[in-house]
Amino acid sequence: MRDPFAVSAAEAQHLAETFGTPLYVVDESHLREKIRAYIDGFASVYPHTEISFASKANSTLAVLQIAADEGCTIDTASEGELEAALRAGVPAARCHLHGNNKTLAELERAAKEGVGQIVVDNFEEIERLGAMGKVPDLLLRLAPGVDPKTHGKISTGQADTKFGFNIADGSAERALLRALELGLPVVGFHCHVGSQLLDPEAQRSGGALITDFALRMRREHGFTAKIINVGGGLGVRYQPGDQPMPIPDYCRLVVEAVRESLQGEWEPTLVQEPGRSLVAESGITLYTVGVVKTVPAGEGQRTYVAVDGGLSDNPRPALYGSKYPVSALPQDGRTMAGTRPMRVSGKHCETDMLFDMVDLPGDIRPGDFVQVQCTGAYNSSMASQYNRYARPATVIRRANGQFELVQRRDTFDEMFARESLISL
Ligand SMILES: Cc1ncc(COP(=O)(O)O)c(C=O)c1O
Repeated sequence: MRDPFAVSAAEAQHLAETFGTPLYVVDESHLREKIRAYIDGFASVYPHTEISFASKANSTLAVLQIAADEGCTIDTASEGELEAALRAGVPAARCHLHGNNKTLAELERAAKEGVGQIVVDNFEEIERLGAMGKVPDLLLRLAPGVDPKTHGKISTGQADTKFGFNIADGSAERALLRALELGLPVVGFHCHVGSQLLDPEAQRSGGALITDFALRMRREHGFTAKIINVGGGLGVRYQPGDQPMPIPDYCRLVVEAVRESLQGEWEPTLVQEPGRSLVAESGITLYTVGVVKTVPAGEGQRTYVAVDGGLSDNPRPALYGSKYPVSALPQDGRTMAGTRPMRVSGKHCETDMLFDMVDLPGDIRPGDFVQVQCTGAYNSSMASQYNRYARPATVIRRANGQFELVQRRDTFDEMFARESLISL
């Protein structure tokens, strides 16, 4: 398994001079390799498979282009993400639309564009779709009642969730029967149990439980699911102890779980919907150090390394206490000194502590760079303009080693274009 992508000191220097910092960099070859590992790993263990890239992880148009070029369909969770996929040149028929509270306008847009599938979340949506006339193929999102071992804010498969139809309380069965009664084109079932899962047991049992349900619907109601979508969720290497299952092994595990539940009765298409595990390790964020400050802390001292970004380009440490691989690169080619634990802080109000107790060189100084690996997922897509900071640019490191700007930094004109003054 390739190490998470990183740039060299010389590349950091070049990137900072050419594009400025903070800067997101995504390595095209790294990303393509990950996608191929999924597509080939899945196809090698089951005859009908599909990998749908969860675009919430990174909806930069160039990233969507690469995913689609490798053969992924695109999972979108809003009209905006659908718009991004369409603008990236992905045919609507290769997009899926998710969402736990889709508006009628969103459903109508998806139908008008001709998306491949809408993943239906609730009874209101069934009724809305039933009143719409011609609608795309539908999957029913199921809550299998699996509690994954991950951060509470990214657990979605348990019974007490806002997502989908509960299997255990009979909602899922009632949803299917109502949709069929309305003549809706239901083609299968979906679940997504959580994210950053390092123990794949939750996805295994989630896949098995929705397939058990599909088998029961076939036997009891004569409904044969053509598609079983087991969602995403595989974790990545944010910390040395994070050891996610290799992608091909994970694909085998998912297929084994589903096959066992199918009991040889039929062969639906199996879909996985990874986001993080496709793109997180292919991206870095590059910052420039502005201030290094040592202050008294309890009995000792603490060194703060202030970088030129923070909460607005990476809200995950504040949201989930997320940790990342963090390292320093010199701006002048020098060999950096031995490391000691420091606290990396951002520029924002609040404490904006990005990363605590990270080992950085004792002689780190303003002008040096801080590289944060594994930021290809849920960083640029979660970025904001808090404190009126411009969101960073994104650069793709092409296969030939050249860097190509694919998303430029916000400008003040763009930032204020939506606003008008009141008359005083
Ligand atoms: C429905 C659905 N599918 C796929 C994903 C992608 O998950 P991950 O990035 O963990 O693979 C998510 C993430 O929240 C999701 O909600």
